[in-house]
Amino acid sequence: MASSVVSFSKTQIIKGGDITSIFDLLKGYGRVAAITGKNHFKVSPNYEKVYDVLSSLGGQFVIVSEVEPNPTVDNINFCYDILKDFKPEVLVGIGGGSVMDTTKALALKLANDGVDVWDCVEGNANPENALPTIMVPTTSGTGSEVNRYSVITNKTKIQKRALRSPAIYPKYALLVPSMTLDMNKYLTATTAIDALSHAVESLVSKNSNPISESFSEKAIKLILSNIFVAYNNGNDLVSRESLQFASTLGGLAIDITGVGLMHAIEHPITARFPHISHGQGLAILFKKIVEHSFMFNVEKYKKVADAFGIKVRGNNDMVVMHTIIDAIDYVIAYLGLNKTLSDFGVEKSDLKYIAEDAIIYMGHSIASSPYSPSKDSIEKILKEVF
Ligand SMILES: [Fe+2]
Repeated sequence: MASSVVSFSKTQIIKGGDITSIFDLLKGYGRVAAITGKNHFKVSPNYEKVYDVLSSLGGQFVIVSEVEPNPTVDNINFCYDILKDFKPEVLVGIGGGSVMDTTKALALKLANDGVDVWDCVEGNANPENALPTIMVPTTSGTGSEVNRYSVITNKTKIQKRALRSPAIYPKYALLVPSMTLDMNKYLTATTAIDALSHAVESLVSKNSNPISESFSEKAIKLILSNIFVAYNNGNDLVSRESLQFASTLGGLAIDITGVGLMHAIEHPITARFPHISHGQGLAILFKKIVEHSFMFNVEKYKKVADAFGIKVRGNNDMVVMHTIIDAIDYVIAYLGLNKTLSDFGVEKSDLKYIAEDAIIYMGHSIASSPYSPSKDSIEKILKEVF
């Protein structure tokens, strides 16, 4: 049998425990910067805990609570200007995907004389080093705590793209389930759909392998068996812990394979319409992407069906496809995310630009998907979810 090499995340994952565990991880660092979101974390009880831990370290520290949702190049530059003279030795990102992605970009920028992060996105600059980071996710969707991606929006170019660099693998991912208890129903729903989309896209990706598949399959099972409990009872720690773990597994899966067609179309949508959340954008597209892609790799979609708990053996392929679509439809409707693009003010005339953007800057994600549509075919899909 031929051998194969699978390499993935270099992040050390610490699962369980309490936020105060960061004390041990930060020992030996003299200057620490914690990065958080603008609103949410500052008023949560965990803010005080983090403050106390940082104070007890005995070194210097700063907390930068300036990260906006869907971080932009400008927002990252703004945080950099606050931090550059402080010269932190380590960054702690406490928040959702936007906070963690910003923390990674700052780690790269601070270690490389303020390198332009968009140059890194476009591959015109490829720094090999970044400051060490510790990620403490407070949502369960992105998986950013364990991978080499930082998704950044460029408002001038109207593009939302991932900076990919092995330099930005977090040093530690501290998975504390209680840190996700603050999520409201909407955030619980949208982040779960994000995690589910990572797992499904990775499972059907042309780049998948047995390791990434096992991450994806476990993530799908955990999400589907825990999302309804977490959605209905946000204080249920068992389901919160399972969703957090699923999100991390999804993050590991896409670290190996990359994302696929759904993200390739979603990024251009939310780059132009940032008031649509990432998870909501994915929810709008999800079942149509499955419908259009299924026949291009039936065997991989049977693995998806299996992870969904759908009977595959003895069933007609079309029955399997429609059962997956019905299941996705049910979950999305239950979570209140069964919307269309026009519900969010997208105009029909916008669709061709979204399709064009997907081809221009998300080509790698389209190419690794079972179905790699042309611009016109992407526009057709967009019309179907309009
Ligand atoms: Fe995502």
